[in-house]
Amino acid sequence: MKYLPLDSTIFINNRSRFVAGMQPNSIAIFVSNDEFPKNGDAIHKFKQSSDLYWLSGIEQEDSMVLLFPDCVDAQYREVLVLVRPNELKEKWDGKRLRAKEAIAIAGIKTIVWLDTLDALLQTWIHAADNIYLNTNENDRKASHIRTREYRFIDEMKATYPLHNYYRSAKLLKNLRGIKTKEEVTVLQQAIDITQKTFERVCRFVKSGVMEYEIEAEIVHEFLRNRATGEAYGSIIASGDRARTLHYVSNSEECKDGELILMDFGAEYGGYCADLTRTIPVNGKFSDRQKEVYNACLAIHNYAKSILKPGISVIDYTEKVGEEATKQFVIIGLLTEEEIAKEDGKNAYKKFLYHGISHHLGIDVHDLGTRTEPLKAGMLLTVEPGIYIEAEQMGIRIENNVWLTEDGNIDLMNNIPITVEEIEAAMAYR
Ligand code: GLY
Ligand code: MN
Ligand code: MN
Repeated sequence: MKYLPLDSTIFINNRSRFVAGMQPNSIAIFVSNDEFPKNGDAIHKFKQSSDLYWLSGIEQEDSMVLLFPDCVDAQYREVLVLVRPNELKEKWDGKRLRAKEAIAIAGIKTIVWLDTLDALLQTWIHAADNIYLNTNENDRKASHIRTREYRFIDEMKATYPLHNYYRSAKLLKNLRGIKTKEEVTVLQQAIDITQKTFERVCRFVKSGVMEYEIEAEIVHEFLRNRATGEAYGSIIASGDRARTLHYVSNSEECKDGELILMDFGAEYGGYCADLTRTIPVNGKFSDRQKEVYNACLAIHNYAKSILKPGISVIDYTEKVGEEATKQFVIIGLLTEEEIAKEDGKNAYKKFLYHGISHHLGIDVHDLGTRTEPLKAGMLLTVEPGIYIEAEQMGIRIENNVWLTEDGNIDLMNNIPITVEEIEAAMAYR
């Protein structure tokens, strides 16, 4: 790994929070993601299951975590299962974790090699009444792939049909939604790298530059600062392409007079930053660009002012929609007549057609509630946008905030955001 060793307290705390929510006399088992094959004999870059990472900090493939807090033998209350180091495999793919190294990362004292897992389960599974297994429970995207998690569930249920089964995902959704201060310290490092990168990009951008050249600057600055890489495919969208929310081809020229919407974030220590800034290619906003930008910033600031414990994402989105409606009248996108019509409260969605906030953490779109009231400790993005087809313009402004008892802390507070700050950051070219 490129990042410096993390404090294993992060994962020790996360496990104790999970264990506190388990039924008595239960065992929870977590498996790694699959390694996805490419064509030929290659595989895609391995990405660990974010749940397993949250519990252990272990990035290595074929790993498992077993939690059995009521086990009579204390050494089997927490077990990390790893693939046994193999000389031939290591000649091709590099060194795999040794027990001592894994213990330092995860803070789990008992390491068991994967080829002895069956014997371990045989010994302990009948001492438990309940088994917690995991799936990716997402209310916004169905998956039809039989991942390793699903195959493992089939296997367990076939082998141990008379145990009670519980869903780990139900617990994880609530737990992972609240970030501990140790987690936020790591995420702040991802943000700091992203800030440095944004400032470099401001000095780099000029008329005629290609979007992919900006992407290259970003990746270079990320890697030289020990980031694992991009938290997601960077969106570098100049001109009208900024209206495409997931524009990742980054293939076009940035032209004088256009804006560039840049949505990118570093991944550091497994945690993701998620920044969007929209800047003028030539370093100066036109009057109209400034007007629309400031409307977007007003919505952004309003959203931040109401994002606190007690409100649900759904209610918050509705209130931000009201502010967007007001701003869109001011900048001439909507008329009072359009708003007065039946369903006029949704008229703003023609120019702002995505959510305002999502949870952020190990996953860019992280686990957490949308329907229940938000709580202190949650970490969310704030990312309103304005997309105007008739003017071939798209603007989005995205920061990451951590909820306190009565408000929030903007973790991106130091990143240039106003027209004046952005123009000043670009003046050094
Ligand atoms: N870059 C993904 C998002 O902002 O949600
Ligand atoms: Mn983003
Ligand atoms: Mn986002």
